[in-house]
Amino acid sequence: MPMLTYKRMPYLKAYIHILSIMPLVYLGLAVDADALGGDPVQAVIHFLGKGALNLLLLTLVISPLAKRYKEGLLISTRRLVGLYCFFYATLHLLAFTWLDLGWDINLLFQELIKRPYIWLGMIAFIILFLLALTSPIWVRRKMKRNWQRLHNLIYLVAILTPLHYYLSVKSGWIEPALYTSLVVFLLIKRRR
Ligand code: HEM
Repeated sequence: MPMLTYKRMPYLKAYIHILSIMPLVYLGLAVDADALGGDPVQAVIHFLGKGALNLLLLTLVISPLAKRYKEGLLISTRRLVGLYCFFYATLHLLAFTWLDLGWDINLLFQELIKRPYIWLGMIAFIILFLLALTSPIWVRRKMKRNWQRLHNLIYLVAILTPLHYYLSVKSGWIEPALYTSLVVFLLIKRRR
C-alpha cells in the first residue's frame, strides 16, 4: 500500500520548502560571516549553480522513484522541486550578472565570446524559464499535448547543464562526469 496519502502530502511539500530554502539561509549566514574563502563572489555563483543542478536531477528522479515504489502522489511534488530549480538558476544568473559583471551588458557580451559555456547555461535557463511559466495547472490544460512536448525539454536542460558545468571548471572533471553519468542513466531508464 502507498505510504503517501492526500493527507500526508502537505507535510511532504512543507519538507521540500524547508529543505530547498535551508541552503540559501546557510549561504546568507556564510556571506555574513565572511566564511566563503578568498573569492566569495565565485563561491556564491558556484553554490547556486550546484543547487540548481541538484534540484534539476531531483526533479528527474521523482518519476522513476514514484513508479518503482508505486507512490503515484509523489509525482505531484515534481512541479515544486522544478520551480525551486528555476529559482536557484535565477539566483545563479543574478549573482553572475550583478556580483561578477556589475550589470555591465558590454561585459556580458565579452563573456559570451570569451566563455562559450555561458551560451549553454543561457539556453538551459531560457528553457527552465519557459517550463516555469507554463507550470500552472490551467496552462497545462490549455496547452494539451504541446505541454508534454515542451516539458520534455527538461531532458535537454539535463544534458546542457552538466556540460556547462564541465566546461566552466578550470580543473577537475570528476564531479561534472558524475553528474553527466547520472543524467545518462536517468535518460536510459526513461527510454525503457
Ligand atoms: C544565463 C544562464 C547562466 C549563466 C550566465 C551562468 C554562468 C555561470 C558561471 C559564470 C559559472 C562559473 C564559472 C567559473 O568558475 O568562472 C557557472 C557555473 C555553473 N553553473 Fe551556470 N550559468 C547559467 C545557467 C545555469 C543553469 C541553468 C544551471 C543549472 C540548472 C547552471 C549550473 C552551473 C553549475 C553547476 C556550475 C558549476 C559550479 C561549480 O563549479 O561548483 N548554470 N555558471
